[in-house]
Amino acid sequence: MLESLRLRNVGPAPEMELSLGPRLNLITGDNGLGKSFLLDLAWWALTRKWPHDLNSALTSGYAARPTDPKSPAVIELKVRGKAGRLVDYKSEYNALEQAWRGKAGRPWNPGLVLYALADGAFAVWDPHRNYWRTDRDADVQERLPAYVFSSQEVWDGLQVDIQGRSTRVCNGLLADWASWIRERGPDAHRMAAVLEGLGPHVGEEPLRPGAGFARLSVNDARDIPTISMSYAPSVPILHASLGIRRITALAYMMCWAWREHRIAADQLGETASSRVVVLFDEIEAHLHPRWQRIIVPALLKVVQTLTEDQSASIQLIAATHSPLVLASVEPHFDENQDRLFGLGLDAGQVTLQPQPWAKQGDVLNWLVSESFGLTQARSVEGERAIEAAEAWMRGDPPAPPFETMENIHRELLRVLPGHDPFWPRWIVRWEEPRS
Ligand SMILES: Nc1ncnc2c1ncn2[C@@H]1O[C@H](COP(=O)(O)OP(=O)(O)OP(=O)(O)O)[C@@H](O)[C@H]1O
Ligand SMILES: [Mg+2]
Repeated sequence: MLESLRLRNVGPAPEMELSLGPRLNLITGDNGLGKSFLLDLAWWALTRKWPHDLNSALTSGYAARPTDPKSPAVIELKVRGKAGRLVDYKSEYNALEQAWRGKAGRPWNPGLVLYALADGAFAVWDPHRNYWRTDRDADVQERLPAYVFSSQEVWDGLQVDIQGRSTRVCNGLLADWASWIRERGPDAHRMAAVLEGLGPHVGEEPLRPGAGFARLSVNDARDIPTISMSYAPSVPILHASLGIRRITALAYMMCWAWREHRIAADQLGETASSRVVVLFDEIEAHLHPRWQRIIVPALLKVVQTLTEDQSASIQLIAATHSPLVLASVEPHFDENQDRLFGLGLDAGQVTLQPQPWAKQGDVLNWLVSESFGLTQARSVEGERAIEAAEAWMRGDPPAPPFETMENIHRELLRVLPGHDPFWPRWIVRWEEPRS
């Protein structure tokens, strides 16, 4: 579990500090302020590898670069390792080597780390499989340092060079899910349970595997797993919508990582760890509001389904642009284990602030809260017309094109719906006799 992260001279702000909660951590902030960057840093803190360094097919996850190459750049972190021990690590950028340098040794994180990048890529780190040893203060990498999948490789499988030999390390969703279904064993059962756990339930059908396989064409010999939709019993998963594919890919990555972790634990004579850290960029991507409303609470619960262990724990660190995601966690947010962070701009500088937790009630209030910072949750034109009307009511000097009450009224009629809550305040003034 990642406890804290401190950055100096790297990323969009001169300094950043993140003191994470053990369970849910949500990061909000405008485009380009560093949410994805912080998730890349969190992944690195837990695995000490940059996703793009391990797979150049990725379109993000690049190694962090110092902002000013002439000044020291530092990443400091604290990770809670096995038996709850807190371990500090400090890394400085070595400009000559173009690399982050710190004490040799493998990361201490005791459980699986899963990173869902915004473009459909995934990265997985397994404390049993992504192992390296230290020899006279140098890291000797004998196994893969992590599994990094481009969005395509999640589906078709991952082949990487291990000690000069091209090795297939994952068969991919299409082949694995098909063989799990054929075996009718615990893997198919787990995949179905995780999918159902992540799917929308509110008056809807849960997300379920379909009836049998499908073929895409006579030339394509693959038996494609299917999902069941309310209007069709078996839609080939490759034809499913973006939202359904994103969640199915997540379910598969979780099931694959957990299955392989358990197999590796058996081979190594170790125990499997049911602690999971999930890093999730743009957690609401492609999801309808109905699904956005349940995805975080569902994820917080699903590791118990995955591991069949009621004491399994998850640390979720997610970036979001969705006020509905924040509204959805109100009944679950626990200040002892959850945190909310906001990236903002202050005098031209990016700042990262923990935000005091306060329920806002609905998405409109979340949109105008500090987390999203809108002044109104209306169209730009609606906001301007209301501001002009309010200025008029206060008696402020009128500004073009709202010099007259008639102009303002006409604009309000054009841009606001008849039931807008602003109307009663305005109508009272509008209907007052004018001299
Ligand atoms: N590898 C890197 N090294 C140093 N700084 C980086 C690196 N990657 C991104 N940044 C910094 O982070 C900024 C972009 O941040 P990021 O992509 O995290 O934004 P975001 O908050 O995720 O935005 P969006 O909501 O649009 O996805 C860049 O402008 C740059 O300053
Ligand atoms: Mg981003």
